[in-house]
Order: sequence, then C-alpha cells, then structure tokens
Amino acid sequence: MAKARIAVVGAGLMGHGIAQVFALAGHDVTIYDSVAASLNSAKLRILANLKDLGDDQKAIERVTPISDLPQAVGDADYVVEAVLEDLPLKQNLFVEIEKYVRRETILASNTSVIPITKIMEGLKRRERALGTHWWNPPYLVPLVEVIETQWTSPQAVDFTMKLHAAAGKKPAHVKKDVPGFIGNRLQHALWREAIALVEQGICDAETVDKVIKAAFGRRLAVLGPLENADMVGTDLTLAIHKTVLPDIDSRPRPSPYLESLVKDGKLGFKSGEGFRKWSHEQQAALRLKVLQHLKKARAEDA
Ligand SMILES: NC(=O)c1ccc[n+]([C@@H]2O[C@H](COP(=O)([O-])OP(=O)(O)OC[C@H]3O[C@@H](n4cnc5c(N)ncnc54)[C@H](O)[C@@H]3O)[C@@H](O)[C@H]2O)c1
Repeated sequence: MAKARIAVVGAGLMGHGIAQVFALAGHDVTIYDSVAASLNSAKLRILANLKDLGDDQKAIERVTPISDLPQAVGDADYVVEAVLEDLPLKQNLFVEIEKYVRRETILASNTSVIPITKIMEGLKRRERALGTHWWNPPYLVPLVEVIETQWTSPQAVDFTMKLHAAAGKKPAHVKKDVPGFIGNRLQHALWREAIALVEQGICDAETVDKVIKAAFGRRLAVLGPLENADMVGTDLTLAIHKTVLPDIDSRPRPSPYLESLVKDGKLGFKSGEGFRKWSHEQQAALRLKVLQHLKKARAEDA
C-alpha cells in the first residue's frame, strides 16, 4: 500500500489508538480534536503505547496534532472520525469536513452503533463515505468492520479494506448498514441469552461467564460458529436448533432484569456492583488480565 495522508478527527481513547496504527504502518497522520487537553495528550499516549508494546517509537514522528480542522483534513486522502457518540455532532462535523477535503478523499466514521447512513446523509458526495468500526484498544484488537451504505462506491470500500489490511488489521466488509454491524449483533445475541439465564434462575452470573470461558470461549478465537457448525454437521446443527431455539430468549427489547439493575444503580464497575459485586482490586485484576491476554494474542499473530 502506498503511503497515504490520514487525518484522524477526535483524539480520545479510539482516535489516538487509530492514529498510532496508521503511523506505525508508515502513513503520515494528522490528528485533530476540539479540546486542547485531548489533542495535547495524544502524542504522549501514543508514545507510551509504542514503548509498552515494544513497537518502533519513530512512528510518533509521523503524527502531527493540528488544532485547526481545515488544516488537519485539507491534504488528507482518508479521514476517520472518532468524536463523541452523538449523531448531530457527527453529522455537522462531516458536512464541515467535506468543505475542506478534496473531491476524492474518503470519509469514515468510527461510530459504535449509529447508522452510517444517518451520519453521512447530509454530504454532497456520499459515495466516498463509509463506516469503519474499530474495537478497543485499536492497536490490540485486529478487527475493523468496514460498513458500506446504499451510496458507498466499490472503490471506497476497496481502498479502505486494503488500507486497513496493509496496516495489520483484519478488515471485515459489512455490505449493509444494519444496527450493530456484525460484531455487536453477534456479541449482544449472546449477552441477551446470558442475561436471560440469570433472570430465569437457571444459574448465577458467575456461572454464565464460567461456562462460556471454560467451554466454547476456549475455541472461539480459532473456531468460528459457522466453521463449528460445518465441523459437527449442518444436520446436527438443525436438530439442536429445533430443540433449543424455541426456548432461547428472543424478546425484541432489553431484559427487565437488566433494566432493574440500572434502575437500582447497579451499574457494574462504576458503582461496584452490576450482575456481580466488584471491589477495586477485582476490577483492576480483570482489566489487567484482558490487556495481557490481548497483548499475548497480538504477539502470537506477529
Ligand atoms: N470506546 C470504545 O470501546 C469504542 C469502540 C468502538 C467505537 N467507539 C466509538 O468511537 C468514537 C469515539 O469514542 P472514544 O471512546 O474514543 O471517546 P472519547 O470520549 O475518548 O473521545 C472522543 C473525543 O472527541 C473529542 N471531540 C468532541 N467533540 C469534538 C469535535 N466537535 N471535534 C473534534 N473532536 C471532538 C473529545 O474532545 C474527545 O477527545 C465514538 O463514536 C464511540 O462510540 C468507541
């Protein structure tokens, strides 16, 4: 992939990590944020990550923070937005960005769940716009979902897929702009049933997590569900579905049990209790465990 000029708009948790990945891949990256503190800390955060991961620290020289939006995006071949999850904010920002970029510059949003179609509907050249859904932390989780809308051109999708693959990511093409894209639909189908099992008194929250982590969770990183279905046979999968699916939670709204936790202020780590109780030490230990696991997986991929 030829060297590209990338602009990252939003220098928070996701933005600084996305900038890091592209800089490490050899691209020149400008980064913009409307909040000076975020912009000023971006390079320090990236440098700390590069050091921690043992990556080439010279990559930091390719990152340029710029506090002026027209200047930050004006020369870019590709702009990715990672500002707060707020539809009017993102809509207005893209209309603004479009005024300053070249005709062919590709525009991407890193929204978690807002439809890309909604974010991009105000653009004059909607064929150059798409979604790129990164996962946190961007420099450790390989997947980037590349979401096209009804207007996105094949060329914009192709460029974006190649850009991310060449930067060491695993891009996945999402051909329709559906809520949750692919990853969060799958993840939350599982979470819905996990919550229903607790709600129905079949087991407690700790047991749900234990069953997943000690059984199919062990295989998931190397054996996807459809590979697994083929491995055991589609006939067996059909037989299992005939028995199990009628009993699995299929309510098209959040669980009342989840709603009651939120109403009671049981918000998880942030309040010390959610499905389970969490001391500060337990929270820190779990965060560390996840980080170490992701770092190990990245080292194994390399
Ligand atoms: N955190 C995650 O795990 C995750 C994962 C995937 C996608 N996302 C999505 O990525 C986006 C960013 O999330 P985050 O976690 O990095 O949030 P964050 O709060 O860490 O960062 C958002 C940044 O946007 C900046 N900002 C706000 N208004 C702006 C404006 N008008 N112009 C420029 N910058 C502005 C803020 O100053 C802040 O630095 C959101 O859309 C979020 O849904 C987050």
